[in-house]
Amino acid sequence: MHEVAANPWVALAYLIAGVCFILALRGLSSPATSQRGNRLGMIGMGIAVVTTLVTHEIASLPEILIAIAIGGGIGFVIARKIAMTAMPQLVAAFHSLVGLAAVLVGVAAFLNPDAFGIATLMVPLIGDPVAVIHTASRVELSLGVAIGAITFSGSVIAFLKLNGTMGGKPILLPARHLLNLVIGAAILLLIVYFTQGQSAWAFWAIAVLAFLIGFLLIVPIGGADMPVVVSMLNSYSGWAAAAMGFTLGNTAMIITGALVGSSGAILSYIMCRAMNRSFISVIAGGFGAVAGPSGDGAAIDRPWKRGSAEDAAFLMSQAEQVIIVPGYGMAVAQAQHILREMADKLKDEGVRVKYAIHPVAGRMPGHMNVLLAEANVPYDEVFELEDINSEFAQTDVAFVIGANDVTNPAAKTDKTSPIYGMPVLDVEKAGTVLFIKRSMGGVGYAGVDNELFYRDNTMMLLADAKKMVEEIVKALG
Ligand code: TAP
Repeated sequence: MHEVAANPWVALAYLIAGVCFILALRGLSSPATSQRGNRLGMIGMGIAVVTTLVTHEIASLPEILIAIAIGGGIGFVIARKIAMTAMPQLVAAFHSLVGLAAVLVGVAAFLNPDAFGIATLMVPLIGDPVAVIHTASRVELSLGVAIGAITFSGSVIAFLKLNGTMGGKPILLPARHLLNLVIGAAILLLIVYFTQGQSAWAFWAIAVLAFLIGFLLIVPIGGADMPVVVSMLNSYSGWAAAAMGFTLGNTAMIITGALVGSSGAILSYIMCRAMNRSFISVIAGGFGAVAGPSGDGAAIDRPWKRGSAEDAAFLMSQAEQVIIVPGYGMAVAQAQHILREMADKLKDEGVRVKYAIHPVAGRMPGHMNVLLAEANVPYDEVFELEDINSEFAQTDVAFVIGANDVTNPAAKTDKTSPIYGMPVLDVEKAGTVLFIKRSMGGVGYAGVDNELFYRDNTMMLLADAKKMVEEIVKALG
């Protein structure tokens, strides 16, 4: 397999694929160029797949094509059936498959190193010939299996938590940091030991301990911190794929894996900043371990004001500026198209309309941006938290549509809150805050009530987001 990479045409094809991937990432950095970025990514992947098929060595072409048909078929059905709101758990499930694939490739290469071209056959004076794995390949193998196993078990736990199969509350084991430290150190020592002697027991022990630490790193992380976990596992899956690329001698895989690994790490860093968490403690696991009333969801027993679509239409049509704050509920209701219609009507009446996007609004990075782009909301009306937060104080109406946690002031004041420390959109500083949600009992992802619902300048619009905005549009005439 390693000889394949030495073929200059193959190397050139993989290089072109790599350049396409880099340009794809660049394109994806702005909504305006994202379609071009996606196309370039697909072209790059097409070149990489065709080149690999043409130069295949380990399996026969029919075997590869049957595997592609089965895997592609399953992927096609899942992609068509999956609801947009279930995307984060699907991504976590897919990451787990990347991790498992890395482990399986590592195990196959360890059991049959000759077939992978990573060993020299030594014939001893007595006994059978032994395949001695090259030192560099031993490092790649053990690292690949370790990262793959961590990605696998960590992603399975992330999937179970995001899917609601496992409770979102952090499970805090006693002395977990010490335990993680000991297991992490043991894995490193075993990698060194395996590199020196190709010991079989060390290889299997690395795999078992890595599975265990992946589990231990994700279990203590609570619901509201899951976005960072998803992007971190995304990064891990990239590094696992890169390690697998070394074992298979496949340059395209090394490039792609490194790109996914590093872009995932950058995204994790950005998400950490957005959530006000320390990057190091994320990697160490259990950063979401805030004790407190997470998940009790109890509604505060205080009076609150209920408004109608007509009230909302009147207030907004009288405003100079309205800031729309979309959240997960907008995605559930698929209200983005009617929302844009509402904004168009307001603009026709001379109201300035802006959208404020919290970095973790919804259930995946960029969730709100994608939905607003789908509804053709002009990009220059869409602002990130740090660019618009100071404007709420000079805004007449904050129109919060299906967002809760990202507006909750408990993040600024309540040290026991699971979202404490996360920067939030200061909607309460606007003249009036309109909140669309379906009921007073419903809570956001972090499972905590929002004290803003009971403030004097808040008006609750209780209904499905799409229905409510449809009525507001009707009322605007
Ligand atoms: P949430 O805090 O989850 O609040 C969603 C709100 O939408 C709830 O108040 C809910 O109340 C309402 N809602 C649900 N369906 C609705 C519908 N059909 N019509 C109208 N309202 C509806 O959302 P958010 O403010 O966007 O915050 C995101 C949360 O998810 C954060 O805690 C974040 O950490 C977490 N998270 C984010 C990500 C990423 S990367 N974005 C990934 C995983 C987790 P009712 O039930 O009463 O309607």
